[in-house]
Amino acid sequence: MSVTKTKIGVIGLGSISDLHLQSYHRSEEAELYAACDMNGGRAEEKAAKYGIPHVYTDYKELLANPDIEAVSICTWNNSHAEISIAALRAGKHVLVEKPLCRTVEEALQVQAAVRETGKKLMVGFVRRYDSNAQLVKRFIDQEELGEVYYAKASCIRRLGNPGGWFADPDRSGGGPVIDIGVHVIDLCWYMMGRPKPVSISANTYKKLGNRANVRNLSFYKAADYDPTVNGVEDMANALIRFDNGASLFVDVSFTLHAKKDEISVKLYGDKGGVELEPEVSFVTEKHDTILNMTPQTDAKSLNVHEAFYNEIQHFLSCVRSDNQPISPVADGLEMMKMLCGIYESAAKGTEIKL
Ligand SMILES: NC(=O)c1ccc[n+]([C@@H]2O[C@H](COP(=O)([O-])OP(=O)(O)OC[C@H]3O[C@@H](n4cnc5c(N)ncnc54)[C@H](O)[C@@H]3O)[C@@H](O)[C@H]2O)c1
Repeated sequence: MSVTKTKIGVIGLGSISDLHLQSYHRSEEAELYAACDMNGGRAEEKAAKYGIPHVYTDYKELLANPDIEAVSICTWNNSHAEISIAALRAGKHVLVEKPLCRTVEEALQVQAAVRETGKKLMVGFVRRYDSNAQLVKRFIDQEELGEVYYAKASCIRRLGNPGGWFADPDRSGGGPVIDIGVHVIDLCWYMMGRPKPVSISANTYKKLGNRANVRNLSFYKAADYDPTVNGVEDMANALIRFDNGASLFVDVSFTLHAKKDEISVKLYGDKGGVELEPEVSFVTEKHDTILNMTPQTDAKSLNVHEAFYNEIQHFLSCVRSDNQPISPVADGLEMMKMLCGIYESAAKGTEIKL
């Protein structure tokens, strides 16, 4: 029996769009139906690669196509809110890349549009959809760690300012905090049970520039890489306090004089701890002995292709049923409060209350 496929439009066809396109292409429940990028050559090229019949350079024209049921938004952060709202009002379900947008005000407008239209919006917090993350979540939900009261996350790039729009605060909303900090902060916060953030003390530093002079070391670049513009921070650290007494410490960088790149995501509870990155592993105590327990899994850390596929499959299941996304607009809004709070605290040089 053939399954009716959901007709999908993908808006923004730069670097990350490939992971959306590959996942929809692989899914039996989706049909890649339309593609849009304001760069017409890029739109044609991606459409040809994935056999997509309808190609646009203006997202409004794509949204006017009544056959499209759902869209992925993979554009620069400055258009996430505008395109999400327009898509919802055009009757489409939305999967929007992280971060939801650039400011809390924009996030509130997107949330209002979700309420007004009744359409589904899912934020692409892709790390939540990794199978190790879901494994850890099951353990935490079953109280294996007890009360999780501290989390610590680090995402350090020695060299990795993607340039172009990422380095232009008007289009990105900020640097490593909003681009990569969002992933690890969200993962910790999700695992901690989404407590309400109440205060933030943070620092941002802009000391090294983008170091476009460095040779022999490659890094992730925007599709339109341009090293001549750089208005964002190099690195940041922050301590976020929650209403249940728990706290999260995070540091992130686009560039730092560090020996190597580093990603770590660690959570500590009163019955046990867990490291999700760099390798999934639990810590507990039994019979007066501290145990390190390593689950047997296909991958030790994030499997990015699988995580994107799981994210897209979850989006499709929500679009095709009454299921609500596990990364809804409300979580995108809370994350914007934390990200913008980090910038506000750093700018004021003091702790801020949320
Ligand atoms: N989930 C992840 O792990 C992950 C990784 C990288 C990037 N991202 C997010 O994905 C988004 C895109 O990042 P990228 O690295 O692909 O950037 P990119 O610059 O490589 O691609 C963005 C594309 O969007 C197009 N575009 C921008 N504004 C548009 C508009 N209004 N209408 C039509 N096209 C428009 C650009 O021409 C470009 O081709 C960002 O929000 C970024 O934060 C997520």
